[in-house]
Amino acid sequence: MAAYDLETHNYDVVVVGAGGAGLRATLGMAEQGLRTACVSKVFPTRSHTVAAQGGIAASLGNMGPDNWQWHMYDTVKGSDWLGDIDTIEYVTRHAPAAVYELEHYGVPFSRTEEGKIYQRPFGGMTSEFGEGPPVARTCAAADRTGHAMLHTLYGQSLKQNAEFFIEYFAIDLIMSEDGACTGLIAWKLDDGTLHRFNAKLVVLATGGYGRAYFSCTSAHTCTGDGGGMVARAGLPLEDMEFVQFHPTGIYGPGMLITEGARGEGGYLTNSEGERFMERYAPTYKDLASRDVVSRCMTIEIREGRGVGPLKDHIHLNLMHLPPEVIHERLPGIAESARIFAGVDVTKEPIPVIPTCHYNMGGIPTNYWGEVLNPTKGNPDAVVPGLMAVGEAACASLHGANRLGSNSLIDLVVLGRAASLRAGEVVDREGAVPEGPASEVDRALDRFDALRHANGTVPTAELRLEMQRTMQSDAAVFRTEESLADGVKKMDAIAGKLDDIKVTDRSLIWNSDLMETLELTNLMPNALATINGALARTESRGAHAREDYPERDDKNWRKHTLAFVDVKGKVRLDYRPVHTKPLTPPEQGGIDPKVIAPKARVY
Ligand code: SIN
Repeated sequence: MAAYDLETHNYDVVVVGAGGAGLRATLGMAEQGLRTACVSKVFPTRSHTVAAQGGIAASLGNMGPDNWQWHMYDTVKGSDWLGDIDTIEYVTRHAPAAVYELEHYGVPFSRTEEGKIYQRPFGGMTSEFGEGPPVARTCAAADRTGHAMLHTLYGQSLKQNAEFFIEYFAIDLIMSEDGACTGLIAWKLDDGTLHRFNAKLVVLATGGYGRAYFSCTSAHTCTGDGGGMVARAGLPLEDMEFVQFHPTGIYGPGMLITEGARGEGGYLTNSEGERFMERYAPTYKDLASRDVVSRCMTIEIREGRGVGPLKDHIHLNLMHLPPEVIHERLPGIAESARIFAGVDVTKEPIPVIPTCHYNMGGIPTNYWGEVLNPTKGNPDAVVPGLMAVGEAACASLHGANRLGSNSLIDLVVLGRAASLRAGEVVDREGAVPEGPASEVDRALDRFDALRHANGTVPTAELRLEMQRTMQSDAAVFRTEESLADGVKKMDAIAGKLDDIKVTDRSLIWNSDLMETLELTNLMPNALATINGALARTESRGAHAREDYPERDDKNWRKHTLAFVDVKGKVRLDYRPVHTKPLTPPEQGGIDPKVIAPKARVY
């Protein structure tokens, strides 16, 4: 048994992760007087939400008519009918209030002439239940919306006396014998000490796992740490096969160029100078849902109409936009294009390519953020003491495909919902639980084994092998052949974790060890993704099977659950989609007939 001194901390709630969802949950918990700690491996305002550019969706109707029912319809359709209808209604209904709340907290939104919050069109956001023109629903702070939100939420959380444990890396959850979560073990990166957090409630807000792929818009910190901890606790991951490719990552480095660029009037062209989206999506064109646009771009490249010497990317044109639009609404992407592509957007097109951007799948939860571990009789059984929010979670607002700007609204509406639920379920007077010592030993033994790992495969080498495999075999288009081959390769790659080599044995700022711990988190996320994708013999949302091009609601309108054991073995199960709205039509809810499955065309 590994011997480490542990410093113990007791809280009502411990939130892991300080991005938009983690901070909104932390703020809400602290506002209600719950003793709340937020543990983060990076400084809060460096969390990946800071990179969110285009905006946050809410039917404020500041630029023209809009309502939450249209937003709900668009989200159901965007999800390709895999999203949980109760979650979608909850989020779209509460979105306007959540945005006004952000405004009152101090988020510096861009403004219209009349001083209202500025909104821009985004892909898949329409009016009249998909029959009307695109709607300007995405509330923006120029093209730095996530940055503005993160700074505001951090300030507000400090004001409410939430306590922050910054640059602490969460190693593993502590689970009781009866399956409740009672806390976690963390490693303080700057002094090498180890910490035990006991809590009545743990909230995982650890973000996505974009770094399982070779080219992605995600920060290097997006390593699926929550999913890794959950998998090791024997709990499932949901709908992991649905990985979003954003149409406009900068060709090469992969930095995001916001969909807001097309919302402001930008358009895509191929090597013939053709605005090809007009052919594929005659109504919404460049503002079709982003899974659709990414596939169309990939088809153009495959059919020889890509741009550049290798004909392997596409052009995004902004040259026709008035310079004041670029200056006021898109200053960040003009800077990114200049630095990372050497392009002056007022004179030249930006070279772009679909780039891994977002994970629709994650830790299964209900819309209160409570983690689900379905049992035979109850597909919605809750794990006591454990919640998940944000990209780490699968609530499932986005189903098989997320609409742009629905992520930021997910973070704040469901982060807030988790805190409201915590206010109800956390027993303020009760004792903070102490999990079993054997669980603490298990976490420390794993940490120690990795710290002293003396195999032959360096972490960076194995990570690259995983990233290249995921990029080539679980990409925009998939086939039985590519996926089966990918599963075989990923099994071998995961097997090499037993032969990993860590060269730095120290405990202070040991990035070698931290990256190895991160790799052990990325791996179960990647395995769940590629195995779930192989099993799902249909095309839906971001999961495009060339050998099964149609959506198959009869057999596949269901959520995948992937259990990944510590040896990397994957077992799949399924749970039903929630198909009922929360509010009946006679009380102002959407008519269920309007959101019944149908062909998804833009
Ligand atoms: C973007 O601005 O295009 C990204 C925002 C999002 O993914 O919702």
